[in-house]
Formats: sequence, structure tokens, C-alpha cells
Amino acid sequence: MEQPVITTAPELEALWLPFTHNRHFKRHPRLVSGAEGMYYTTPDGRRVLDGLSGLWCCNAGHRHPRIVEAVKAQLDELDYAVAFQVHHPRAFELASALAAAAPADLNHVFFTNSGSEAVDTALKVALAYHQARGEGQRFRFIGRARGYHGVGFGGLSVGGMVANRKAFAAALLPGVDHLPHTHNLEHMAFSRGQPEWGAHLADELENIIALHDASTIAAVIVEPMQGSAGVIVPPRGYLERLRALCDKHGILLIFDEVITAFGRLGTSFAAERFGVMPDLLTFAKGVNSGMVPLGGVIVKQGIYDAFMRGPEHLVEFFHGYTYSGHPLACAAGLAALEVYREEGLFERARRLESVLEDAVHALRGEPNVIDIRNFGLAAAVELAPRAGQPSLRAMQVFDRCFQDGVMLRYTGDILALGPAPIASEDEVGMLVDTLRRAIRAAA
Ligand SMILES: Cc1ncc(COP(=O)(O)O)c(C=O)c1O
Repeated sequence: MEQPVITTAPELEALWLPFTHNRHFKRHPRLVSGAEGMYYTTPDGRRVLDGLSGLWCCNAGHRHPRIVEAVKAQLDELDYAVAFQVHHPRAFELASALAAAAPADLNHVFFTNSGSEAVDTALKVALAYHQARGEGQRFRFIGRARGYHGVGFGGLSVGGMVANRKAFAAALLPGVDHLPHTHNLEHMAFSRGQPEWGAHLADELENIIALHDASTIAAVIVEPMQGSAGVIVPPRGYLERLRALCDKHGILLIFDEVITAFGRLGTSFAAERFGVMPDLLTFAKGVNSGMVPLGGVIVKQGIYDAFMRGPEHLVEFFHGYTYSGHPLACAAGLAALEVYREEGLFERARRLESVLEDAVHALRGEPNVIDIRNFGLAAAVELAPRAGQPSLRAMQVFDRCFQDGVMLRYTGDILALGPAPIASEDEVGMLVDTLRRAIRAAA
């Protein structure tokens, strides 16, 4: 038996942190105890500039007063409402607002509590949709290498982050294939915005379809811009080709917009920014600026209609969560959508995009920087790994940034930046200057 970890802070021991090197963390704890706007504060009173909008979610900044007020007011009125068979007005209001904001005929919303649940829900909708239309043999899903779709068994199965899947291989969904990812250092390093190279990588879908026969495939799921893998921007024309191939073969296209929706790309949804419409779209995070857990799936009219058949007294879709459309989450969502609109935050994101792009690409030439990429208010700086110690260099850079008052995120040897649209140009400059110093220190 291994000895229990002895930490320098026993009061930290009981908590098992998610996606964290727990033993390292407990020796070198990093805590934040307050937040406002673009800044966290630490228990010892230091201010830390939030360079990642929480975890890609606090798109109106932290504790936006209007969203805080809306949640407080909701709490004074209704804490919880039964989600099944009975419901509450805010959920309908938010669903209507989201349907109105979503492009094309994406107009029916199913609420979940997280991005992972949104993805698993979308996969289930896809299967049940085909079954309802007499095509129950369509059971296969196609995801993408390096894709991140949360941690449910469905999302893990279609996801392509190897470390996340390794321990669970035996329990993943059957019938899942993966497209190749679209990142290629040789052809697209230091691209600004969408790379020109790589649309042809979508054609691999045709080979996968040929292998299994189109009639067995339910859906293709991709993040329109891959976030968690380290901001992998779709090559020009790539998403369009995926759309065309799905149309040709009667396959549903799901965009996982958990990171890309609500302003990250300067629009309500990435679908709008790229001009490519999915059949289903997942969201979470920014829907209420990260204030209360909430996620969901938006589906096209035709998908919803396929379920609304048979006797009216029967449940149409055997799926849902105790907290689907929780009143506090919906109140926060309604307020966040108002804030985004009234404060013009998506337009602001569009204006800041070039500021972030110029700032981050100025890191080219710094030690060990092998790629810089950006789109919308998202950017990544990829570093050459330390020999035999992948991710150590990025962890050191991340640590140094935190000590110097900036919060970023790292995955492997990639540092990701995703400031909220409320950031000032100076704050974007501060993020990048701090990162530059940390990269030099980790040379
Ligand atoms: C694209 C995508 N899908 C799903 C998820 C999972 O969301 P959650 O952590 O809320 O379950 C994430 C989280 O980062 C994500 O980026």
C-alpha cells in the first residue's frame, strides 16, 4: 500500500480536485477567494488578472452586478421547481431567448447542468431521432482526435484526448470513429485566424463513411473551434466540407459549442461566425457567464418534430436531470443574455480580437515558442516540451504567471488565453507581457 500523501496543509487533504495533480497542488496550493470583473483575489489579498474567463465561462466578467441581482431576486421568489411534468416560467423564457439567438431553425432547447451532460444529451437525441424515423440502425458516432466533449461516457467516447480515455477504454461506446485533428505544425504554425491549409482533412469523413456504410452513422460531433486541446482553429473550408458530407449521407452534424458560444468568437454561436449550421448545438459555460451550472442542447425544428408523435399522454424522450433548467441558472442566463446584448459584449469581443492577435503573435521568437494561434478571444502559445518531461515547461510558465498575477491555463505544453470581452486593451497587454516573462523564465 502506498503511504498517504503528507501535505503541508492538512485542511486541504479531504478534497479530491478534478483534472488536477492533487499531490503537487496540495504542496503548492493556489487558491482564489474572491472575484470581480476581470480579477480574482487570493486569500492573502493579491489581485490576479483572469486570462481565461474562469474556465472559458465568465464572459461578462466575474460577479456582474446585474446577473448577481437576478440570481438573488430569483432566490427570493422560487428556489427549485420540479423539472419533470411541472416547470417554471424562467426556463421557458430562457429557452425562447436562446431559440431566438440561435441561427437558422435551431429553435428547441433541452436544458442540462453542464457541458458533459449537454453532449451526452445531444448524442442521445441523435440516436432517438433516427430511431423515431425508422432508421434505428444508425448507431455510430464520429468524433475527432483531440476533441473534448466532457467526461460522461458518451462525451469521452467521441472525444479524442488520449489521457482522458485511457483508463476507460473498456467502457466506451461501441461504434465510434474519429476524424483526424486539424493541427499541423509544418503547414500552419503561427497562423493568424483560420489557417489556409487543411480543409481536405474533412474528406477523411468520406473514408470513414465508406468503411461503415452511411446508413449506420447517426452523427458527427466536433467543436467548431477546439478549445480544451489548446485552441485549434478550423482551417478555411473545413467545417463547410463536413456539413456537405453529412448532408450527402443523411448524417446529423453536432457542434459542441460549450466554449465557443456566447461571445467567445464575437457572435452568439460559432455557427454564425463560420456560416455553417449544425443540426444540434450544445452550450454551457457562457450561457450565464458561469454564475450557476447550466448547459443544454438546441435542436432544429425537424428533430424536435420527429419526437412529437404518438399519443399525447406519453413521454416523448426518456431523458432529463433533476436540475434541468434550474430556476437560479435560468435567471442568471436571462440576465447574462441581456448584459451581453445591452453592453455590446460580442461586438467588443470582435474589436478586441485583433488586439489579442497582435499581442500574442508578438511572442514569436521567444524561447521555445513553436506555435501561436488565435481566433476570436481565444489564443494559444505552444512550447517545445522539456526533454522527456512533457507538460513540465508549460506548468512552470503557468505557475510563474499565477505568481505574477495572471491566470492562464495549460494543456500539455500549450498555454491558452481566453480573456472576457470586458477586458481592456491594457489588460490584454498585461496578460501577454506576463506570459512573455514567464516563458523567458522557463527557457
Ligand atoms: C467543447 C466542450 N464540451 C464539453 C465540455 C464539458 O463541459 P463541463 O465541464 O461543463 O461538463 C467542455 C468543457 O470544457 C468543452 O470545452
